[in-house]
Amino acid sequence: MAFDIEAHRGGRALFPENTLVAFAGALSMGVDTLELDVGATKDGVLVVSHERRLNPDLARDGNGNYVAAPGTPLVELPLAAVKSYDFGQIRPDSAYAKQFPEQRAVPGTRMPTLKEVIELVRRSGNDKVRLNIETKIDPDHPAEAPDPETFVALLLGLLGAEGFSDRVMVQSFDWRTLQLVQQRAPNVPTVYLTLQRGSAPNVSLTRATSWTAGYDPTDHGGSLPRTIKAAGGAIWSPYFGDVTPALISEAHDLKLSVVVWTVNKPEDMARLIDMGVDGIISDRPDLLRRVAADKGLPLPVAFPVIP
Ligand code: G3P
Ligand code: CA
Repeated sequence: MAFDIEAHRGGRALFPENTLVAFAGALSMGVDTLELDVGATKDGVLVVSHERRLNPDLARDGNGNYVAAPGTPLVELPLAAVKSYDFGQIRPDSAYAKQFPEQRAVPGTRMPTLKEVIELVRRSGNDKVRLNIETKIDPDHPAEAPDPETFVALLLGLLGAEGFSDRVMVQSFDWRTLQLVQQRAPNVPTVYLTLQRGSAPNVSLTRATSWTAGYDPTDHGGSLPRTIKAAGGAIWSPYFGDVTPALISEAHDLKLSVVVWTVNKPEDMARLIDMGVDGIISDRPDLLRRVAADKGLPLPVAFPVIP
């Protein structure tokens, strides 16, 4: 497969994350893959959201007020209620807004359903771009998402109904959902997310936890690539600070692709391409395209589309 240019949440540094505005922006500039996160509403509709709850830094009610922390779990709200919130602008003056000063505000933007994203892709005419769909489910907070069986049934049901199963990968830190995808839809590649350093210390992969569906790197010489191979994964998706040339070689020897997240600085992108990664997930797909072009990599075609 060619080098994979992935727009993280559609290109979070440029557009309101995980929205049709962002995915249309990414399609319009040209990417190989739209990275996105999904949860489910009370009435069983898959929606695109990084948080399992309404995010107080993103969700504004009909009066223009950002919701109070911690935010209602999506799984407790019917789709109509979720659609009443505006996700078009990060709460000004929040720490989160300071991380993405160039993000364009698009007031009135709604949280999309996964079906709406598929429809947008179809409308763009791009018959190559893929979706890298992350199941947002946390074994430590089981009430905030459907159980793994229900989650995977909803996802595979939608993909089957839309005839889109051959255009996706399913990724997760919760490997239970990946195991179910492998059993129910063996042709859908699974992407094993890992984080050893960085900002989410609750996801520990240095020992067996409920995140890893019983797989334990200590049973595989401490090697994450070997653990993921044993689990049946197609792609290893580590935090970019965790990879080394030796680990990438080890993964490649096992016929695993390595797609790192989330890389936003051109110098890191260039270094990781030189290291041999197979793809990069970035909040700045525009910069990633530029760096990939400098490295002589083929660029995905632009498919301009209005959200
Ligand atoms: O695809 C990998 C990356 O998206 C995982 O981190 O927290 O942005 O979903 P997060
Ligand atoms: Ca994600």
